[in-house]
Amino acid sequence: MNIAIIGSGGDGAGMNECLYTLYSKLKKHNIMLFCHGLQGIINNEIVNYSINDLKQERTKGGIIIKSSRSSEFMTDKGFNKCISNLKKNKIDILIIMGGNGSYQATKKIIQAGIPCVFIPTTIDNDIKQSDYCIGFSTAVTNAIDFIQKVNTSMQAFDRTCIYEVMGRHCPDIANSVSKAVNACFCFVGTSKKTELLKAVKNELKTNTAPIIILQENTINIDELKQYLQNNIKNIDAKSAVVGYVQRGGFATKKELKMANGFATLASTLINKGEKNFMVAYDNSLNNFVSKNL
Ligand code: F6P
Repeated sequence: MNIAIIGSGGDGAGMNECLYTLYSKLKKHNIMLFCHGLQGIINNEIVNYSINDLKQERTKGGIIIKSSRSSEFMTDKGFNKCISNLKKNKIDILIIMGGNGSYQATKKIIQAGIPCVFIPTTIDNDIKQSDYCIGFSTAVTNAIDFIQKVNTSMQAFDRTCIYEVMGRHCPDIANSVSKAVNACFCFVGTSKKTELLKAVKNELKTNTAPIIILQENTINIDELKQYLQNNIKNIDAKSAVVGYVQRGGFATKKELKMANGFATLASTLINKGEKNFMVAYDNSLNNFVSKNL
């Protein structure tokens, strides 16, 4: 079979391990790697990497075949170009590693007659069909590392600091990081400024350097800092956006195990002749499962 693989949407550590595992377990097939995700299929950007090239990248963040967010794919012209290139290259199965947008794209490509397999990869952990998405563990670990480093300085000056973490519209990263760094408050979509104020005032009774975690896309970080300054006398408040460090660096041990598990199940099922499915992690079963698409 001709099997194409792409990484699509936001990158996350573990994607390289997933790619390497797919490549090695599907080696009896003709594997075609398109770079730059869906945009790369539209532009017919096929790249060649040996199994050894992929092996070197296994633990690194990012994705060796590169990703993209393709606005062209959202147009009829771009979508049709994508399908026609998949047909021209005689692709029997397209494997998409990606997030929510890529999940929707996968379903659309299947409807156009190209069999697909979807693997959930997004640091946001917001694909509801899977309890875990590749990239989450590393993103949380990187954010904790960043905050612990910055906060040693905050402690030296008795400063209160608000740390904004990624997650798009999902609170999973914020909640996990908050617990790990003993934050006095985790500000998510449903939070109120008054609740934060109460928590910080209380924390300041015993801790001169309170930590606040803020989920991105909920409230402006400077507005929140100003609110604390306006309402707590003599507070020295700072803010820091954790940002892309969450997507970079090296995959955690858990990430590598999960990425390997997703790719192993996907390739086992493909080798058995299955298609049009996604691989998911089910917390209640403690295992990887497949779901029809
Ligand atoms: O979806 C992953 C993510 O890192 C989000 O957490 C964040 O909001 C967004 O991507 C950033 O997007 P971009 O890489 O396009 O700046």
